[in-house]
Amino acid sequence: MKKRIMCMLVFSVPFFSYGVEGRGKFMELKKCALVTGASSGIGKNLVVELLNRGYEVVGVSRSKERLDRVKHELNNPYFHVYSCDVADMSAVEMISFELKSQGYIPNMFFLNAGVAGEAAMEPTDVLDTKCHRKIFEVNYYGVLNFIEQWLVTCKEKNGATFIVSSSINAIFAPPGGSAYSASKAAISKAFDGLRVTHAGSNIKFISVFCGPVDTPGLAGTLPFTWPPEKMAKYMVDRAEKGKAHSHPSLFYSSLARFLNLLSESKVLWVLKLLTGNQPQE
Ligand SMILES: NC(=O)c1ccc[n+]([C@@H]2O[C@H](COP(=O)([O-])OP(=O)(O)OC[C@H]3O[C@@H](n4cnc5c(N)ncnc54)[C@H](OP(=O)(O)O)[C@@H]3O)[C@@H](O)[C@H]2O)c1
Repeated sequence: MKKRIMCMLVFSVPFFSYGVEGRGKFMELKKCALVTGASSGIGKNLVVELLNRGYEVVGVSRSKERLDRVKHELNNPYFHVYSCDVADMSAVEMISFELKSQGYIPNMFFLNAGVAGEAAMEPTDVLDTKCHRKIFEVNYYGVLNFIEQWLVTCKEKNGATFIVSSSINAIFAPPGGSAYSASKAAISKAFDGLRVTHAGSNIKFISVFCGPVDTPGLAGTLPFTWPPEKMAKYMVDRAEKGKAHSHPSLFYSSLARFLNLLSESKVLWVLKLLTGNQPQE
């Protein structure tokens, strides 16, 4: 059961706040992007893709050490790093203030940091609301915190696109994944409301319902798992085209909807098949 759950969720690491720390001088390119969860997986690959497309990029995540490693590895003067817990509104406010005061106004926000995988797995013998709150603090409020800080400024300037790394688990909730699934469904729904609220303005909201992506925290193996480079390219393409909803994996988007139509016993049977276990009924 645990293996199945781990395979349907995606990973992350424990909660720490390192405060806010910025680096480097901005070059003031016209195309500017901010990426949360930039030190690993999809976020790190988003940074690479954006730099290749001529963006100046600010990368955010908690671990200063991991960010420094990525900065060193990419060795690009157009990449700047800030360590901050996205769940900490005062830290998000400080970063945003610092960026604005340096004249750095991103026009793309990849709000990608998330608690997922093993870190998002719930105990299945009890219901732990602390676990739900912890996941929502990052996956829901950690996204909205940036939007609150930047919406008005971006509207007054040249507009912006906010892109959230949602999940097929927003459509289908696996066992042990009620909090993760609810957080991804909630943020995607919030984006739907914001999109309609700001329709016709220079602000866009995009939800990308990712299937499994081969990132360091992905527990187990699943068929049709995407490499993170492919997902990053897909996301930047969709963001540049301004597509509202994006379903990168036809297989997992269809499967998630199909699973919702089945009885619980059939769902468990399909999950076993998917994760390579012997199917049992
Ligand atoms: N991989 C998949 O199969 C998959 C599928 C669907 C959706 N997604 C979503 O895609 C996003 C990225 O996932 P990934 O697979 O690339 O994960 P990953 O490789 O574990 O990367 C997660 C990134 O988020 C950062 N992060 C985590 N909590 C944070 C916080 N509170 N504040 C700031 N940064 C934080 C981590 O750095 P620090 O630990 O240093 O903070 C890391 O840079 C997540 O939202 C996930 O739910 C992934």
